[in-house]
Amino acid sequence: MDRSSRQTVILALVSVLLISGSQGGNILGVFTSTSPSHLIVQMSMIKVLAENGHNVTVITALKPVVTHKDITVIQVPLSEEDNKQMSATIAQFASQDNSNMIATMFRSMGQMKFMMDKMRDIMRDQRVKDLYENKDNKFDLVVLGYFLNTYQLGIAHKFKAPAIVAASMPPNQLFDGIVGNPSSISYLPSIGMAVERGQAMTFVQRIQNLFANAALEVLFAILEIYNVNSYKLVYGDDPSMPPFEEIGKNVSLVFFSSHALSEGPIRPNVPSVIEVGGIQIKDKPNPLPKQLAEFLSKADNGAILLSLGSNVKSSHLKPETNIKIFNVLSKLKQRVIWKWEDLDNTPGKSDNILYSKWLPQDDILAHPNITLFITHAGKGGITEAQYHGKPMLALPIFGDQHSNALKMVKDGFGLSLSLLTLEEQPFEESLTELLENPQYSEKVKTFSALYRDRPMSARQTVLYWSEYVMRHHGAPHLQSPLKQMNFIASHNLDVVALLVIVVIVFIYISKLTITAIIRKLKGKPESIDKIKKH
Ligand SMILES: *[C@@H]1O[C@H](CO)[C@@H](O)[C@H](O)[C@H]1NC(C)=O
Ligand SMILES: *[C@@H]1O[C@H](CO)[C@@H](O)[C@H](O)[C@H]1NC(C)=O
Ligand SMILES: *[C@@H]1O[C@H](CO)[C@@H](O)[C@H](O)[C@H]1NC(C)=O
Repeated sequence: MDRSSRQTVILALVSVLLISGSQGGNILGVFTSTSPSHLIVQMSMIKVLAENGHNVTVITALKPVVTHKDITVIQVPLSEEDNKQMSATIAQFASQDNSNMIATMFRSMGQMKFMMDKMRDIMRDQRVKDLYENKDNKFDLVVLGYFLNTYQLGIAHKFKAPAIVAASMPPNQLFDGIVGNPSSISYLPSIGMAVERGQAMTFVQRIQNLFANAALEVLFAILEIYNVNSYKLVYGDDPSMPPFEEIGKNVSLVFFSSHALSEGPIRPNVPSVIEVGGIQIKDKPNPLPKQLAEFLSKADNGAILLSLGSNVKSSHLKPETNIKIFNVLSKLKQRVIWKWEDLDNTPGKSDNILYSKWLPQDDILAHPNITLFITHAGKGGITEAQYHGKPMLALPIFGDQHSNALKMVKDGFGLSLSLLTLEEQPFEESLTELLENPQYSEKVKTFSALYRDRPMSARQTVLYWSEYVMRHHGAPHLQSPLKQMNFIASHNLDVVALLVIVVIVFIYISKLTITAIIRKLKGKPESIDKIKKH
């Protein structure tokens, strides 16, 4: 067989596998995160399953924007008051310096607890409990959207269903316990550390990394206590539930929204790490709404998309900042699409600026006339811009956005400015550099080609592995032994300790023996003389 016919056969086999697997499973998605960007990624994963004939039910806090006619959504919405508090939290984030992610995490424990409490309330809601208290319900697979919530895996046990975790981030130490990935802090930068792709960390960086890791471990230990308590609170009334530790280990796979081959870091991953980065990006963009399409079709000098994401509303920013942004953008020859919620209250009118409340970001970024993306550097937006090969100006606000921005700049795809201290002149200079120097666009286009080059697309990967887990009723055979091992055993510290003891004992005995021999010899000086004579 020559190469191309072998490829045809393999392709045919893959399609047969994909089709024959679609016998219509019952799948439950548990997506309780209050962050819209998480929900987009998670819904995009599960939508693939609905499109391929599975019966999908999802539990959410927010109203999903990614939907499918065959997905049953059980939304347990936040109260009006909670929504207000969420908005106030975001506004507070937007007004403070969050560039040190770990410090921010500790500082914002209160806000994090608020979101986690809301997620826990959902699991205790009768609409969710009905699912398992009604014994007729049967699920073949539970997909859990990850946000520091492993106790929610209890619901998979209720259905005796295998579980897949859907993570809207790359593999990191948060998941070491769930997937059993080997972690080495000597070359794996911790969350929040940006190291150039393929570069080893310097001595100083490794020291920083050690401390960053230690700080994260403390944070995780606190979160673990929260998880244990939540598990008790939600499932404690059922004596047939296994201990929390077993629940956490019983995960078949984790879908990560990353693609290490193109994005890095290059690291060892166990087989239950499945990367589906870019899952939210459509293979073919949808046609744009008429107004946007017309606006972009007349962009003789190209166009810029400005969006600070789904969490931060323009009203969360200082009004002066919005005015400064407007002053610079309104002078450009490029056209600008600006995501802005309050259309009666804009920073100013200009022929080259179109304000819009809601934007199909992925479809806009796919448009050939878009030449620059001004973004808050959320993982989703950066991924989309990278996929479509568009350079970026990052204005990060909180969470992983600062480290995303740092990494994006290191990769050469754009520039980053502090939103908190934004001034007109540096903003204008950065825009000019990005619009006039072709190097950013060239680098990100090269990346885009790498990012798209995969044996199976992200959607095919989600479908294949979800059906794989359903076909085999879980995936206990591909679990890493590291999941069963504690810190001491996984680092072989007990073996090293034994060896050290053996060596110490050996040295001690040798010393005793030698001293005894010397003493004996010294006690009988004549015998030494005898030896010397020989
Ligand atoms: C689909 O799932 C729902 C649970 O949300 C269930 O009530 C319904 O019977 C399922 N449909 C089929 C055809 O299995
Ligand atoms: C682990 O998952 C399997 C399905 O893959 C299930 O049958 C089993 O009950 C689960 N065990 C625990 C402790 O949840
Ligand atoms: C992009 O802009 C150019 C110049 O205005 C226009 O001719 C072209 O049709 C636009 N492309 C699309 C896809 O709208």
